[in-house]
Amino acid sequence: MRLLAKFAEMKAQGEKIATMTAYDAPQARAQAAAGIDAILVGDSVGVNILGYASEREVTLADMIHHTAAARRGAPDTFIYADLPFATYDTPEQAVASGLALQKAGADAVKFEGAHPDIVRALTSAGVPVCGHIGYEPQTGERRVHGKTFEEAERLRAEARALDEAGVFMIVLELVPAELAGIISKEIKAATIGIGAGSGTDGQVLVFPDVLGYTEKNFRHNKRYAEVGATMEAATASYVADVKGGVFPTMANCAALPAETLEQLCK
Ligand code: KIV
Ligand code: NA
Repeated sequence: MRLLAKFAEMKAQGEKIATMTAYDAPQARAQAAAGIDAILVGDSVGVNILGYASEREVTLADMIHHTAAARRGAPDTFIYADLPFATYDTPEQAVASGLALQKAGADAVKFEGAHPDIVRALTSAGVPVCGHIGYEPQTGERRVHGKTFEEAERLRAEARALDEAGVFMIVLELVPAELAGIISKEIKAATIGIGAGSGTDGQVLVFPDVLGYTEKNFRHNKRYAEVGATMEAATASYVADVKGGVFPTMANCAALPAETLEQLCK
């Protein structure tokens, strides 16, 4: 379902929202079939799929490419896509970037930081917005944010400002569980946590982390599979089969009809 209203409804009903990143058609197809509520085409595509050293290297063209791929794999699933680094420096630039991602198939966009003016510009242009505060990978320090009273109050104020500006959802990344719970109770928008405990309205994880094919594992993550090990083992078996003449067999290809073979060998 691609209706924006379903997230407010789920929050009101206390039904948890399960979202995850997907970066291509087969990933999106698998998640849609498994009943995911929303797919995030995150700029984590850069580090996890494209081999970049940082989120900052991700371009709008990268995001358009991967958003379109995810959309082809999951035509009926709600998709939100990240505005990458330096593509929302002004409200005008944010609107242009947001419309480009919408055209590629995104139902909404997400961007980092407390910029209510950019939320208003995008929503006025018909692009729904998901906020993202706490740890902000494009510019921030990778640590838990909001442990001190001052930081906690700042995050709370940022969440309120984004909420008042009209975001439909906010990602809280690496925020102490109790603070994420407090923020979730006092804003209208649905909160989606990552490393923020169970008191948020939903959760998001990074698919390659969940599948177990990223090098690092994180405290916030739960590995539900070991796809990295499976990929390596499958490759090793294939290499051994090719070198040993075990693959392919005649079952994997077509045989020449006896008559044609006879003519060829005359
Ligand atoms: O890009 C991403 O994967 C994200 C999530 C961690 C929220 O922004
Ligand atoms: Na991101």
